[in-house]
Amino acid sequence: DYRLISLKNLIDERGQLIFGETLRDIPFEIKRFYCIVDAPIDSKRGFHAHINLKQCLICLKGACDIIIDDGKIRRTVSLAKPSDALIIEGEIWRELHNFSFDCVLLVLADEYYDPDDYIHDHSDFLRRKNA
Ligand code: TYD
Repeated sequence: DYRLISLKNLIDERGQLIFGETLRDIPFEIKRFYCIVDAPIDSKRGFHAHINLKQCLICLKGACDIIIDDGKIRRTVSLAKPSDALIIEGEIWRELHNFSFDCVLLVLADEYYDPDDYIHDHSDFLRRKNA
């Protein structure tokens, strides 16, 4: 339900170019994006799962940790390279921690914003996973 992929990147004296195409590199069509910038170092975000949403998280600058919880195992995925993309599909609890001062996190999503697609309560999440 989640995986880290490496996007194509070209590095030369002019800088680093990173690119990807929907349905080729990013496994869905993108209907929405959002960005997290200026997050205080001790801030924590997320703390929810999505029922249907597919997302791709790319830390364009700086670093942050994404805690991924599938209901059985909690793992930390560190995003620290702009060519790393974390794909999350299916019901996965996610938390965002340890933002570097310069972190710029871009999130691509396959659906428009829908508050009904969120599971905000971790006990509800576990109940659904074990149902
Ligand atoms: P929130 O869920 O608190 O973000 P996070 O999970 O990172 O802490 O979102 C804050 C508000 O922003 C919430 O009222 C909904 C709104 N929002 C949108 O309208 N569109 C979006 O794409 C997102 C991500 C949030």
